[in-house]
Amino acid sequence: MTTSNDGSSKLWGGRFSGETNDLVERFNASIDFDRRLYREDIAGSLAHAAMLAAQGIIPAEDLSLITGGLTEILTEIEHGQFEFRLDREDIHLNIEAALIERVGDAGRRLHTARSRNDQVATDTRLFVRAACDETMNWLRELRSVLIDLAQREAETVIPGYTHLQRAQPILLAHHLLAYEAMLTRDTQRFAQARARANVLPLGSGALAGVTYPIDRRAVAGALGFDAISENSLDAVSDRDFVVDYHSAAALTMVHLSRMAEEIVLWTSAEFAFARLDDAFSTGSSIMPQKKNPDVAELVRGKSARAIGNLVQGLTLLKGQPLAYNKDNQEDKESLFDSVDTLLICLQVVSAMLPTLTFDRARGASAAVANFALATDFADYLAKKGVPFRDAHEAIGSLVAKCEREGRTFEDLTLEDYRAAHPAFEADVLSIDLASSLAARDIPGGTAPRAVAQARDAARTRLEAEKQ
Ligand code: ARG
Repeated sequence: MTTSNDGSSKLWGGRFSGETNDLVERFNASIDFDRRLYREDIAGSLAHAAMLAAQGIIPAEDLSLITGGLTEILTEIEHGQFEFRLDREDIHLNIEAALIERVGDAGRRLHTARSRNDQVATDTRLFVRAACDETMNWLRELRSVLIDLAQREAETVIPGYTHLQRAQPILLAHHLLAYEAMLTRDTQRFAQARARANVLPLGSGALAGVTYPIDRRAVAGALGFDAISENSLDAVSDRDFVVDYHSAAALTMVHLSRMAEEIVLWTSAEFAFARLDDAFSTGSSIMPQKKNPDVAELVRGKSARAIGNLVQGLTLLKGQPLAYNKDNQEDKESLFDSVDTLLICLQVVSAMLPTLTFDRARGASAAVANFALATDFADYLAKKGVPFRDAHEAIGSLVAKCEREGRTFEDLTLEDYRAAHPAFEADVLSIDLASSLAARDIPGGTAPRAVAQARDAARTRLEAEKQ
């Protein structure tokens, strides 16, 4: 990075005679991170210049020089041949100054009817829009992985939990599809974030609008924006669309973190429902036997960043008077971090999930252990006309008796059941894991038929979204 601290060389240097303090130059500059917006910045300038020429604000010859120069700069940046300069502060001034070096006065006309304030807002919106699209693609990939896994493990049973206490048997597929449901809502949130971001601020000038006969709708059309902003003060200072991205990202990361926590639990010796593939676990440098779920733990840990970035984005805005303030330069690193964090987590979880192997026998035995069929016995009595509260009490005392005697439901005879409640008949002996699952055959329930329907519906919904 080159530095040349000569105030007069700056594109805004006209009214300055003194040089910028070295520390201030470093403090003020954002080029180290906002260079990432080069594509958006060039796209915005190309659309702006084309509009200026079409409106007769700059000559057609200037447009072709500007277009040629910006296209060369784009290629140079993409080939790592562009020299980013700290003394040129940010991505906007770096590109504009390089353009002027190339094409002279035509380049000096590019900034007509524009301010860096509406320029950076435009670039950031273009960035967020693309980030939403990429995020939604990876969310859909992960949803498809979950649906496939639900199909592969269609018959796998695990205990369902409340309060992390074994509660009732469920299909693993049902559990997996619960995450698919969360990620479907996340996808919707990114679609909404995209729609709100997709509004053109350019044309707002520094804050009050511009004095030239510009055509904002033409620029919006060229850049694929759905609409133009309605208030110039809001347009240059609004970063709600960044907060929208953070907010959707933080919640998605919370969902991934919950899933990661389940993987940590399931692959522990205590649960032992699943095994990690070597490719997705790591060893310990001291304990030779260890196989650690680092990937899942990192996903859980990285959710903290996304939550922190959301808080940073909100806090950044809260004290700002209208309109643009330099505070807003601080929106970018956290935005980039949220996007990068979320995308890598979505990818790594999508890759890891199919490599899990489930211990189906262990899942099934754990699913019925600890009196997990108790509700089914209470429901049995209720269906024979016993008020549910009485049925609950009778089964509760039966569980207590079994616990005292070191027995399980499977050890009980018809006489034992009838001693607990006279409404029990011989068919009570057919209550088992399969009957417990099959009985929950309502939309949204864990019966194999209901889960297969939910899985197929999820797949149809996903395919429709991809159209
Ligand atoms: N680098 C600045 C940012 O990220 C660009 C806008 C600066 N505008 C200004 N008037 N200083 O917000």
